[in-house]
Order: sequence, then C-alpha cells, then structure tokens
Amino acid sequence: TLQASSLPKLQPKQKPAKQFQPRASTFKVALLGAAGGIGQPLGLLIKMSPLVSNLHLYDIANVKGVTADLSHCNTPSQVHDFTGSSELASCLNGVDVVVIPAGIPRKPGMTRDDLFNINASIVMTLVEAVAIHSPDAFIHIISNPVNSTVPIAAEVLKQKGVYNPKKLFGVTTLDVVRANTFVAQKKNLKLIDVDVPVIGGHAGITILPLLSKMRPSVTFTDLEAQELTARIQNAGTEVVEAKDGSGSATLSMAYAAARFVESSLRALDGDGDVYECSFVQSELTDLPFFASRVKLGKNGVEAFISSDIRGLTEFEVKALDALKPELKASIDKGVSFVQKYA
Ligand code: NAD
Ligand code: LMR
Repeated sequence: TLQASSLPKLQPKQKPAKQFQPRASTFKVALLGAAGGIGQPLGLLIKMSPLVSNLHLYDIANVKGVTADLSHCNTPSQVHDFTGSSELASCLNGVDVVVIPAGIPRKPGMTRDDLFNINASIVMTLVEAVAIHSPDAFIHIISNPVNSTVPIAAEVLKQKGVYNPKKLFGVTTLDVVRANTFVAQKKNLKLIDVDVPVIGGHAGITILPLLSKMRPSVTFTDLEAQELTARIQNAGTEVVEAKDGSGSATLSMAYAAARFVESSLRALDGDGDVYECSFVQSELTDLPFFASRVKLGKNGVEAFISSDIRGLTEFEVKALDALKPELKASIDKGVSFVQKYA
C-alpha cells in the first residue's frame, strides 16, 4: 500500500509563475552620421535593443550598405536608410530619439576645439532639421566639441521656437564608462559595482570624475586621485594617439552611446529609476550648461543630483574652479556661432 510518507510532499500553493512580458518594441530612433566610425557599431547596438521598433540611418553617403547589412539581424526593429539632405526630413519624422555622431574626428596633436570649424556647421544644419521634423524628440549630441555643439543645438532650437532644455543632451557617458573601468582596475573592484559620476564637460580638464562620490565608497591617496583623474581626462587622446591618424574612439563610444540610448528609451518607457551623467542646461553651477548626474523620465531630465557637487574634496573643488573658465569659453563660442546667423 501506498504510504503517505512516500507521496510527494504537497508544496504550499504557489502563484502561477509570472509570464515573461517582453516590453513592446515601440520606439523610433534616428542616427545621423550612421555610416561613420561610431555610427556603424552604434547602429548595431541599437539594432539589438528590444525597445526599438524602427531604426532610421542617415548619412551623406554609404548608408544603403550599412542598412542592408544591419537589416539581416533577426532582432525586432526595422532598419531604413536615408541618404543626403533631401531624405533628412523623412528620416526624422516621428522619431523619439535622435542621435548625432556626424562630423569629423581628431587626429594626433589636435584638440576637440580644433574640430569646431567643421562640426559646428554640421550640427547646426542637422539640428535645424530636427527642430522642424522631430521637435519633441530626445536629442543626443555626440559630435565634438560637445562643450560647444550642445550650446549650438540649444541656440538653433531656440531660434526655431522649440527648445526644450530637458530633452537636449551632450553624450558624456564615455567619460563615466572610462572612469568605471580605470577605477575598477586600479582598486581591484568588481566592475559591476563601480559607478563614478563625471561632471563638468567633455574635453581635457573640463572632464571631472568625482572619485569622492563613487560607488562603492573607496579611499584614494592624493597621488592615486591625481593620476586617475588625469588618465580619465586624457583617455580620448590616448585612443587618438594609438589610432595614429585614423580617428578617435569609435567602439567604446558606440558602447557608451548605446547605453545612453537604452537609458533614454527605458525612461520614455516609464521606468522610474534611470540615472545618467550628461552635459545639459543646468543651474547646478554658474555655467549655463554643465554635465552631472540627472534622473531621466518620460519628459527628459526630471531632476539633477545636486548632492554630487556638495562636500567635494579639496582636489575636486580646485579642479572644478579650474575647469569653469575653459568650459564657459567653449559654451560662449557655440552660442555666438549661432547668433551670428540670427
Ligand atoms: P567618422 O568620420 O568615422 O564618421 C562621421 C560620419 O559623419 C561619416 O560617416 C560622415 O559621412 C558623417 N557626416 C559628415 N557630415 C555629415 C552631415 N552633414 N550629415 C550626416 N552625416 C555626416 O567619425 P567618428 O569617429 O564616427 O566620430 C564622429 C564624431 O564623434 C567626431 O566629431 C568625434 O570627435 C565625436 N566623438 C565624440 C565622443 C563623445 O564622447 N561625445 C566620443 C568619440 C567621438
Ligand atoms: C573621446 O573622448 O574619445 C572623444 O571625445 C573623441 C576625442 O576626440 O577624444
């Protein structure tokens, strides 16, 4: 006979396992400069996002091949190609996020500001079209010099009467990605735990990692803080020199930009827990634009993490004072570039 003890134990009544709910792929993303060194790997990473329904690739040339290639990946989004200014309007129509890596990169010996003459006009022209065809989109500016191209974009949007400061972002995620990598290496930390806020701007000394505000909380000697800060500030140049004339960071940049796109899409999708550093219009300091951690929501920047810039170390306070004149000059240069055309 069957003994009660040999019967399988009745489990306490369990709730039926929660069905996995893939989030709908509903967002449209436009990538301007999609055939370039950043554009191609960034297009691939955005193609992998489950949140994207349509990926619009725009460039002045070579975008058909990139589109055909990417379109064979069996991920949800549809990929469409747009070549040249006559197709820019259709590329931008109805998109939720516009990502702009269009423009020339540095060669050894150049500063990011040396790219101003060419890239300022490229960004101005592209943002003029964004202002007309997708004025409600989040705009991610990657083209350098970011410290000037973001103010340029803001001025263009103002002139067109559609400026929403909460939705214009300079992409500084690569500075955070680098800071996390270098600090984890130096202190032998698990990468997944490390998060270093990086404030200021995106060029040389205007890039200021806040080691005193990082997670997990770690102590640094003065020399360690100086060396890590200098490496993070100089990391773009490290890549430019290693590439020896063939360009600047593209793969790590694509990785960083894809993270910022995904964070933006999660915020648009209603996730209430999205924080990123970005160079945005800001009142945290006396400068009109400033990179800091911000909370992202459906309408863009929802809050500034102002506690990051309080209680800094003496080294960080000095570095913050030192970066302001250079950052201000770059911002002013961008603003006056557009105002000349007003
Ligand atoms: P790249 O030369 O490889 O690619 C640029 C692409 O832009 C090219 O395909 C080109 O055809 C396209 N382009 C040029 N003018 C255009 C226009 N008017 N409309 C549309 N597309 C246009 O350069 P890259 O390595 O991809 O770098 C692009 C930019 O990103 C550079 O300015 C670089 O300094 C910057 N960058 C920024 C960061 C950052 O952290 N924000 C990091 C790396 C690079
Ligand atoms: C970077 O930080 O890698 C970019 O801004 C590109 C550059 O010119 O350094």
